[in-house]
Amino acid sequence: QVRHIQYHANGSKLPPLVFTFDIDGVLLRGPHTIPAARRALDMLNGANPMGVKIPFILLTNGGGTHEEARRHKLSSQLGVEIHSNQIIQAHTILKSVVHKYAEKPVLVLGGRNDVVRKVAESYGFKHAYTTLDVLAWKPEAWPFHDLTPEERASTKAVDFSRIPISAIFVFHDPRNWSLDIQIALDVIRSRGIIGGPYIDTPEPEKPIELVFCNPDLLWKSDFPQPRLGQGAFRLAFQAVHEALVGAPYPYVQYGKPTTATYKFAEKVLRDRLEELAGGRVEEMPRVYMVGDNPESDIAGANGAGWPSILVKTGVYEEARGPPTHTPTYIAEDVEEAVRWAIDREM
Ligand code: G3P
Ligand code: MG
Repeated sequence: QVRHIQYHANGSKLPPLVFTFDIDGVLLRGPHTIPAARRALDMLNGANPMGVKIPFILLTNGGGTHEEARRHKLSSQLGVEIHSNQIIQAHTILKSVVHKYAEKPVLVLGGRNDVVRKVAESYGFKHAYTTLDVLAWKPEAWPFHDLTPEERASTKAVDFSRIPISAIFVFHDPRNWSLDIQIALDVIRSRGIIGGPYIDTPEPEKPIELVFCNPDLLWKSDFPQPRLGQGAFRLAFQAVHEALVGAPYPYVQYGKPTTATYKFAEKVLRDRLEELAGGRVEEMPRVYMVGDNPESDIAGANGAGWPSILVKTGVYEEARGPPTHTPTYIAEDVEEAVRWAIDREM
């Protein structure tokens, strides 16, 4: 007998549980769909003992493209319709802080060419610049990279000696760490005027805000070993800043496992459920998190009070010992994770 099926005005039924899925290492390996993912999503689509559709959202530290573009690609990769309000990428949370910077010049890092600039502009950043724009302005800013024709075509003509950058947002994983570390250092040490004099006195009255969106040191793509993530870029940047200035630079961190990102995910999940139920959801179903990275997925879910299920198809490798954060359950893959959680709620 299933407890707690909630019946709603529009005739919809909300089950006692919902899911938040990580993407890389759980549903996908690079461009490839993990076979268990399709079977898991079929269960959520109604093929389960509860006989109801079980809602879910996707919560990834990935990104570098607009949610709308990502959802189209995910829908074809997963074989189910993913709606744009079902996907939270590393930088989606920036929509909730853009009001502070909408009119100010900001530097945006990560992704290919100017895709991330376009994402930033779609969020409401009106003056978003890239490190490729800086190279187009003064190639001598970083002598070891020549813009490709494609990169040059993505740049904006800007005189950075007249544009005080107010903040740096690392939306996604930088493609050219050396260029991006150099320009980020120039912005921070010259108080926003790239090429201006370095002013390293501590605690400036209005410091340049430095915001990272993904703390992952590692992530699982389709290479046998995990790959370095944006967290590794942050460590590289901070090591160089400390070597030059004597201390790391203060920064804001978003992404799993931060509380800010999990709170943001709870809001997105509630909004999704209320859209499905056609009205207010009085009692939130239990949220199960399924992830492959103990540092981001399990730590964050445990912190949010969500039951957490660690799968063996990604970063976590059983042979290397117990996970650094203890999950509620360890499953072979996402299909077993979903089956276990449903059985647990029957
Ligand atoms: O850049 C992607 C990576 O850091 C992790 O992605 O989906 O496993 O959170 P995900
Ligand atoms: Mg993952």
